[in-house]
Amino acid sequence: MRRLDQLLSSLGYCSRREAAAVVKAGRVKQDGVVLKKAEQKVEAARITLDDEPLEAPEGLLVVLHKPLGYVCTHADGEGPTIYELLPPRWMGRNPGVTSIGRLDKDTSGLLLITDIGPLVQRYTSPRAEVEKVYEVTVDKPLVPELVEIFAQGTLLLRGEEKPCLPAQLSLTSEFTASLTIQEGRYHQVRRMFASQGRHVTALHRARFGPYVLTDLPPGQWRWVPLPED
Ligand code: URA
Repeated sequence: MRRLDQLLSSLGYCSRREAAAVVKAGRVKQDGVVLKKAEQKVEAARITLDDEPLEAPEGLLVVLHKPLGYVCTHADGEGPTIYELLPPRWMGRNPGVTSIGRLDKDTSGLLLITDIGPLVQRYTSPRAEVEKVYEVTVDKPLVPELVEIFAQGTLLLRGEEKPCLPAQLSLTSEFTASLTIQEGRYHQVRRMFASQGRHVTALHRARFGPYVLTDLPPGQWRWVPLPED
């Protein structure tokens, strides 16, 4: 049970102060019955606002197809942000909405967006070892030996002492490959290929753990179920 005004403001519908007017206007119901007091305790799942259920009161999780050119920060000045692609009301949610990990400005593909803190920790912790699949295009021909080099778990990135975990590389053409990694180091995919003299010219994430993009167009998002455990 939560206070109604606190519930509406935490979901980004209005400020706590504005909630009093929203309630007074008869827009909020519990089990179809109009509520009168913004201070009363309610069960989120039974509440409607303007006859619509409240949006994801237990926390939201969506998959976004990040387009090229968008940045994953909240800060202005570096170009359009992924947050501009989401409903403006979500920016008023508390806890705040954030991406689970980041993609570079010039990387496209699957990004999970949530306001569930433990989910962010679970998926971004170095011990998480969540599989991510990237489609990679490089500037120089790829050779089969790279498959073994990436699989060995001995690849050192410039400036780092700990080798990368084994990664699965599958060559799809002379200049393209699919790479599966379980870590999320800074610019990891670009740096892995750079260590082998290849410059990544295009990078796209197709999968993150159990989540895939399928036919979601760039710039669009869709709801996905919360993980079961
Ligand atoms: N690896 C990179 O180099 N960039 C990304 O955006 C994601 C993984």
